[in-house]
Amino acid sequence: MASYRIRQYREQDYEAVRSVFARGILEHAPAGYRTFLRSARAQLALLILFVGVRAAAGSWVLGLGAVAVALVASWIQVRSLSTTYVQQALSTDLLDVSTSYLRAPNSCFWVAEVKGTVVGMVAVSPPEDPAEREVALELKRMSVSKDYRGQGISKALCGEVLRFARARGFGAVVLSTSMVQVAAQRLYEGQGFRKVGASSPSLLAAVLCFQVYRYRCDLPGRTTAPPR
Ligand SMILES: CC(C)(COP(=O)(O)OP(=O)(O)OC[C@H]1O[C@@H](n2cnc3c(N)ncnc32)[C@H](O)[C@@H]1OP(=O)(O)O)[C@@H](O)C(=O)NCCC(=O)NCCS
Repeated sequence: MASYRIRQYREQDYEAVRSVFARGILEHAPAGYRTFLRSARAQLALLILFVGVRAAAGSWVLGLGAVAVALVASWIQVRSLSTTYVQQALSTDLLDVSTSYLRAPNSCFWVAEVKGTVVGMVAVSPPEDPAEREVALELKRMSVSKDYRGQGISKALCGEVLRFARARGFGAVVLSTSMVQVAAQRLYEGQGFRKVGASSPSLLAAVLCFQVYRYRCDLPGRTTAPPR
C-alpha cells in the first residue's frame, strides 16, 4: 500500500484534478442505468411500448425493435446526467480552481498525492442555500482514483474538510451525493453524516428515477452562526 499525503491544491495539479473528478463521476453511469431498468416505472413503460407496437404493427420483431431503441435511448439519457454534471463542474468551479477555492472566503481545495501523482481530491465552500450559508460549509468534488481506493484516502480528505469547518466556527458540513454512489454514502455515514433529504435534480432525472441525497454532519459544540 503506497503512502499518501494530503496538501493544498497547486496550479500544477489542474489537469490531474479535472481528470480524477470526471472519471469518478462518469463511472457511475452504468449503475444509474441498472437502477433505472430495475424500476417498476421503466419496466411498465417498456412493456406498454412492446404491446402497443406489437398490436399496431402486428409484428413481434417490430415490438422487440421498439424496445431495443427505447433501451438505447434511455442509456443515452442516463449517461447524459453524468456527462452534463461533469461538464458543468469543469466549466464553472473546476475551470479555475485557485479562484474558486483558494482565493474565495471560507473555501479550500486539497489533493491527495502518492509519489508526486494526484490520486484524490476534495473541496469545501459555502453552500448555495442562503439559509445554510449562515451555519454550514459544503463538502464538494470528493474523488479518489480507482487504483488508490480502500486505503483511507477519502476518510483523510473528509477529515480535512471537517477540521476546516470546525476551525472557522461553522456548526455543520453539508454535501450532496447520488443514489448510485454507494461507497460515498457509506464513507459519509461512517464520518458522522446523516441523510437529511432526497430529490431529483431535474425533470429528466425524475423521469429516469434518479435521486440526489443531501447529507449533513453537525459539528459538536458549534450551534451559533460563525463570526463574519
Ligand atoms: C467514494 C470514494 C471517494 C471512496 O474513496 P476511498 O479512498 O476508496 O475510501 P476510503 O478507503 O477512505 O474508505 C472510507 C469508507 O468508505 C466506504 N467505502 C469505500 N469503498 C467502499 C465500497 N466499495 N463499498 C462500500 N463502502 C465503501 C467505507 O465505509 C470505508 O470505510 P471503512 O474502510 O472503515 O469500511 C471513491 O470510491 C470514489 O472516488 N468514488 C467515485 C467518485 C465518487 O463517488 N465521489 C463521491 C462524490 S459525492
